[in-house]
Amino acid sequence: MINTKLELPCGEILKNRIVKSAMSENLAKSDHAPWSGFNKLYSQWVDAGLVITGNVMVDSSALGEPNNIVIEKGRENLEALSSWAKAGTQKNCHLWVQLNHPGKQSPKYLSKVPVAPSAIGYKSHLKNMFNTPRELSELEIWDIIGRFAYAAEMVKRSGFTGVQIHGAHGYLISQFLSPRHNQRSDKWGKDRSLFVIEIYKAMRKSVGEHFPIGIKLNSADFQKDGFSTEESMDVILKLSELGVDLIEVSGGSYEAPVMMKGKKESTLKREAYFLDYAKELKKHTQTPIVLTGGFRTQKGMIEALENHACDLIGLARSMAIDPDFAHKLLNDMNVDSPVKPLSTGFKTLDKIFPLEIIWYTDQLHRMAKGKRPNPNANVFKTCLSSLKSIGIQVLKPVRNSSE
Ligand SMILES: Cc1cc2nc3c(=O)[nH]c(=O)nc-3n(C[C@H](O)[C@H](O)[C@H](O)COP(=O)(O)O)c2cc1C
Repeated sequence: MINTKLELPCGEILKNRIVKSAMSENLAKSDHAPWSGFNKLYSQWVDAGLVITGNVMVDSSALGEPNNIVIEKGRENLEALSSWAKAGTQKNCHLWVQLNHPGKQSPKYLSKVPVAPSAIGYKSHLKNMFNTPRELSELEIWDIIGRFAYAAEMVKRSGFTGVQIHGAHGYLISQFLSPRHNQRSDKWGKDRSLFVIEIYKAMRKSVGEHFPIGIKLNSADFQKDGFSTEESMDVILKLSELGVDLIEVSGGSYEAPVMMKGKKESTLKREAYFLDYAKELKKHTQTPIVLTGGFRTQKGMIEALENHACDLIGLARSMAIDPDFAHKLLNDMNVDSPVKPLSTGFKTLDKIFPLEIIWYTDQLHRMAKGKRPNPNANVFKTCLSSLKSIGIQVLKPVRNSSE
């Protein structure tokens, strides 16, 4: 079952059912362009049917992390992108670029005044991480839509085989979809799905009918007054009707990071965090579905496919710690994921740090240097060295999104 091919609505074929989900590399240099380390990293995952890059930003004045790749007018870097695409599409592996705009989820040290659908700041502990945003004007909204379309065109031109819209995890598209974060009284607030629909349409226009476009979307935000499962399903059905090729189901945001650990009650019952939602979704759409988050056992993956909960298995952390994981699954080596809970050994630190992101990013950086991942890497030490490099970033001048 995991070995079976899958045909996408646009006619492209994925060679098997394993998807390496997006993991931000945070590895670009100050020019925000890819370099040979990206080629090394991505050539290790080509056994998967589909590999999705870490989020690539469409505006250099709106970054989620200091070392994101950016594709925008004047910053195309086509040669470097082509070399990355070539390395990651060996063995007929599909390699898609995930395009993103962080909106207000751009850290304080990167955005003095980030942008968002409405000028609503975070109320929780996130207040310390992100500045209060200003509201986007209509003109700026169209500019961002154009940026997604332009970046998609460059992605296609450089030889990647598809593109994914990052519509999940609390970034700008998620913010537009959420009644908690989008309180506009104009058409972008009256129909909160309009922004993502216009992005999809503009991208489709720029890449044509036969180039795959996927989307990663939350099954819900898991927040009071947030984007609900009903709304999520509604948006997916609209995009399916418009011809989107692949839907990746996830959930949560920085406010409720369930994409990394699921909701307690559901995860106790099953390993994949959003399995019930995906299963329900499959009853309503023919568009192929990738389910991501929590898959750890080959048995769990095969069951999810056999029970028609999803068409593809999305894997992130497992692939960062064992780049051969897809190969082992495909060759029926009855392997389970080596992913385990992480701890610094200090409860308070564990709460403050985004441990999972820091530790797994470090594994990606090892792979980019041609080293094997180190499953025994000390969590505390990894966090300390990451803090040091963030400290250096904080001292650099901050970009203003309105500049
Ligand atoms: C280091 C790291 C970086 C991530 N970056 C992204 C990203 O750029 N875009 C995205 O959609 N998800 C990102 N994620 C979330 C994963 O794609 C995935 O949804 C999540 O890790 C759950 O899957 P898993 O249980 O297989 O790890 C990231 C996860 C990790 C660990």
